[in-house]
Amino acid sequence: MKRYLLTPLWVVQLFTQTKSFTKNPLIGSRLANRLGLHVVRMVVAHSIMGLRMRLLGRQVDPQLRKQWYEEGFMLVENFLDEVSLAALRREASCADADVRECIQGDTLTHRIQLDHATLEHMPAFKAVLDAPRLQRLLKFASGKQVRPIAYIQTIKNGFVDGPVDPQKHLHSDTFHPTMKSWFFLDNVDERNGPFTYVPGSHRLSMARLKWEYTKSIEISEGADKYSGNGSLRLTDSDAQDMGFPPPKAFAVPANTLVVANTHGFHCRGKASEKSLRTELWTISRGNPFNPSPGLDLPWFDKLQNHALVGWRRYLDRQAEAKGALSSWHLIEARNTIQDSVDPVEQDKPVTAPAALYAVNTDGQDSDTHITDGQSADNQSTDEQSGIDQLRRAA
Ligand SMILES: [Fe+2]
Repeated sequence: MKRYLLTPLWVVQLFTQTKSFTKNPLIGSRLANRLGLHVVRMVVAHSIMGLRMRLLGRQVDPQLRKQWYEEGFMLVENFLDEVSLAALRREASCADADVRECIQGDTLTHRIQLDHATLEHMPAFKAVLDAPRLQRLLKFASGKQVRPIAYIQTIKNGFVDGPVDPQKHLHSDTFHPTMKSWFFLDNVDERNGPFTYVPGSHRLSMARLKWEYTKSIEISEGADKYSGNGSLRLTDSDAQDMGFPPPKAFAVPANTLVVANTHGFHCRGKASEKSLRTELWTISRGNPFNPSPGLDLPWFDKLQNHALVGWRRYLDRQAEAKGALSSWHLIEARNTIQDSVDPVEQDKPVTAPAALYAVNTDGQDSDTHITDGQSADNQSTDEQSGIDQLRRAA
């Protein structure tokens, strides 16, 4: 009976971003995938997303556009001036906002969602996110005018006991082009796990389509949890069969922007020590079968952020009813860096962001930078001038 009632929903989901082989029996149907369902969805979604990107790509620097189409990412070093970067670091260090945590293997991810209410107290982040220079890149890469959801994110490697973080296996997020971006507030190297990407792996070559076809049948017959959720894992022999080059680890200085099509194979790089990195992180994922890139409407942006906050609270209540924590649960910390400088932790070696900064532009020592407890409203003249510069650039 339940199957009968849900079938219309499963059919509709075939024309959306729904990717789970396990939650949608049509997407996970062995027969349908033998007949090519997964591959057909991929080809159609890539074609439509390609058109949407071309519509939005005219204002993007041709070199970056070329890099995007050929390699699947855009990389811009020295994205901001030092003063603006210092303002972002200060706001990240002194934030007073809801922090959500996800525990994956031995890694903690801490995030603050940068919705409108939060950004009211974070003028430097607001100025960066509003700057057309950034928005043009993100809209092109996501193939839509609607702004991505933005977060302050800190990845904390080796902060808990556990197996290897599953995000550290090369994988494709989903079957269609999709955008994530990282603006690194810290230097990134092998110590704190650089983002890693297989250049060119976003393209639909014949070898890739053949691999996807075989995988879709295998997954329909039972697979690991992540592949079953539509986030396909890559092995070394798969990479060889598809003729991929070696993965590129983005060991980059602070103040670097990386925008990636995470349909391409990627992962969090392994960190050689207990360490963290903080970034302004954005994500955009929508229906790849919708040919319209939509509009940048402030009310819609507010609505999507509001809906996400409400959804997370709903999941919290659901988990609480079962005596558990939701996968992205609230923690006591009010910023994403705070608990890494807990006095109990200080005798353990941690590659902390301040120690990695190329230039300590605010002239404070490392500890002060993280724990000085100033409110985000207490902006220094330098920070304010950085924000003004960003606004002028906008
Ligand atoms: Fe991913």
